[in-house]
Amino acid sequence: MKSIGMLEPYSKKLKYCVVLIGVLLLAACSREESAVPKLEKNKRWYSNKQVAIGEQVYEANCLGCHFERATGTSNWKKTLEDGSYPPPPLNGSAHAWHHSVEVLLTVIQLGGKSFGGKMPPFKDVLSEEEQLAVIAYFQSFWSEDVYSRWLEITQQN
Ligand code: HEC
Repeated sequence: MKSIGMLEPYSKKLKYCVVLIGVLLLAACSREESAVPKLEKNKRWYSNKQVAIGEQVYEANCLGCHFERATGTSNWKKTLEDGSYPPPPLNGSAHAWHHSVEVLLTVIQLGGKSFGGKMPPFKDVLSEEEQLAVIAYFQSFWSEDVYSRWLEITQQN
């Protein structure tokens, strides 16, 4: 990447990516590996208990923006009037399945507000166990197909 100035002509489209790249860089510096589950082929990393805990965490903290069963906003690629993005679906139909557990944890911990987005940070609100559980909850809506593609992508890293 040369300079931020180069991004300007594309700024709206790229903003979302830049937000996520920022989150990614912070992810690399700010977290310990230990909480991140081991991923195995043909097997979900989480238990039913985590999904059940995650459902409660979701209802209390995320439902208001990301909606019932993590369906989010259908038109999630279109920016709002202020240039920010609406809450995307987390149910496997949008972009969330491109991210590893580490990155998803970091998005939840830092939110998007400090990167010009709307999502608040949850690092002081939810324990890491609750953050993992809420990821398990929305991943439980991912089809086998989406989940196995996600496994492939994340295991390349
Ligand atoms: C105030 C509304 C709001 C709340 C509450 C909220 N989010 Fe978000 N979320 C957003 C928005 C808007 C985005 C897009 C980035 C931005 O603007 O911050 C987003 C993005 C995300 C992403 C990245 C998705 C992707 O496609 O890359 C994840 C993951 C996520 N939220 C999970 C959660 C979880 C889990 C909770 C509850 C613990 C939560 N959010 C609570 C509004 C919210």
